Amino acid sequence: MRPKFVAGNWKMYTSLASAKGLAANVAHAFGEDKRVMVAVCPPFPWLTAVAEVLKGTSVLLGGQNCYPEREGAFTGEVSPAMLKDAGCQYVIIGHSERRHGLNEGDEFLNRKAKVALAAGLKVIFCVGELLAEREASKTEAVLDTQLAAGLAGLTTDQMSKVVIAYEPVWAIGTGKVATPDQAQAAHAHIRGKIRGLFGEFTADHVQIQYGGSVKPDNAAGLMSLPDVDGALVGGASLKADQFLAIVNAALG
Ligand code: 13P
Repeated sequence: MRPKFVAGNWKMYTSLASAKGLAANVAHAFGEDKRVMVAVCPPFPWLTAVAEVLKGTSVLLGGQNCYPEREGAFTGEVSPAMLKDAGCQYVIIGHSERRHGLNEGDEFLNRKAKVALAAGLKVIFCVGELLAEREASKTEAVLDTQLAAGLAGLTTDQMSKVVIAYEPVWAIGTGKVATPDQAQAAHAHIRGKIRGLFGEFTADHVQIQYGGSVKPDNAAGLMSLPDVDGALVGGASLKADQFLAIVNAALG
């Protein structure tokens, strides 16, 4: 069985004080439940402080991005090794706000995934279609390309450290959540594509999170779908009570 995995993407929100407080509230209320994995992904400057708060708890820590080099003259960038050193177990790669807002392409994201995995991080690799692509019936083709190109060259061993997040771009921050049928169809398609690329075992084990306007009132419906293994939560992860309600919904 695949354990459910709920991750909070705090994006460019929180202050140092509110980030520490949010992490402490999540860790305190979550406790030790082994049936669901929980992670928070704060902005870079708060990572070490949040890592300190999370020390000794079972809440995992992730970065929201990384640069695909081990080190070097890359002003303003952060390497996977630095994230690891700061206490991260995970890094989000390929979020639509970077694909579309910052023009990050498949080949660049593939390099990020490889360097992150080489540094010992696990990867939450985001894929998802634009509204126009969905309306043009291109969802599956877009997902296929993002997966094939983004995960190109990874071994099955590396894939055991990759989580996929399906985030339809039209559902992110809009309050427009995918219907259960839309989510299940996309997740099943993604799992099928992973099966084609990496085989049955990897497909059966890879966790596929849904992201896009996940809230306490829709989380249980989404996460009870057979191919939805958790959630990548934006806005609702900034409120401990809402995030914890989504974590509880993952318990079914
Ligand atoms: P919202 O939950 O705010 O729609 O954001 C989703 C997201 O982008 C998570 O990475």
